[in-house]
Amino acid sequence: MSDHPHAKVETNVGLLAVLIAVAISFGGLAEIVPLMYQSETIKPLPGVKPWPALELAGRDVYVREGCYGCHSQMVRTLRFETERYGHYSLAGESVYDRPFQWGSKRTGPDLARVGGRYSDDWHRAHLMNPRDVVPESNMPAFPWLASTPVDGDLVTRKLKTLKSMGDPYTDADIRGAAAAVAGKTEMDALIAYLQDLGRHAPRGD
Ligand code: HEC
Repeated sequence: MSDHPHAKVETNVGLLAVLIAVAISFGGLAEIVPLMYQSETIKPLPGVKPWPALELAGRDVYVREGCYGCHSQMVRTLRFETERYGHYSLAGESVYDRPFQWGSKRTGPDLARVGGRYSDDWHRAHLMNPRDVVPESNMPAFPWLASTPVDGDLVTRKLKTLKSMGDPYTDADIRGAAAAVAGKTEMDALIAYLQDLGRHAPRGD
């Protein structure tokens, strides 16, 4: 057998596996790290602000109920997508989404641009029982949201936590959070969130 150093690597599976892992992770780092510093991917688009208290509560209902299991929030850069949903999604739209809701599973339509497409009443009827408004729908009903109040203390704590992580909430936002959700149900919050989706989307495609 040759005593070339490469022979050592080729005859030792453990060493080979470690070196492969090192080589692959360098490739991964070269692709991923620059994205963390590119302003295009980390700067909010003009007008994009952290979610107001009510919408933030609604977003958490969306995550808790697993809406992402059937709905993506990412319009791809394909013509048939932009013609159906509007401008393709940009990273700068979702810098304050923790965690982001992009996804790829679409049992139902993409929701990235659903804001303003329907009235609040439509959403209410749809969430109470989707088949009342879309007879062939297989989306589950979420009627309990209409009788579950939003917890003002919890929302206030969430805003404070997000602020400590760098989201630019003002002290007035935090002081006003409990009042903003007072008397609101989780259904109200979820609808407010849905109506805000895509508000900052670039126009045209
Ligand atoms: C089991 C899969 C499933 C889940 C879970 C689900 N949906 Fe849906 N959704 C659908 C399907 C299918 C449609 C299309 C038919 C219809 O409009 O009901 C739809 C439609 C919608 C629409 C109308 C979109 C449009 O552009 O017409 C909205 C808004 C929506 N869903 C919101 C939600 C929210 C909010 C949740 C979580 C509380 C949720 N969905 C959970 C399957 C699902």
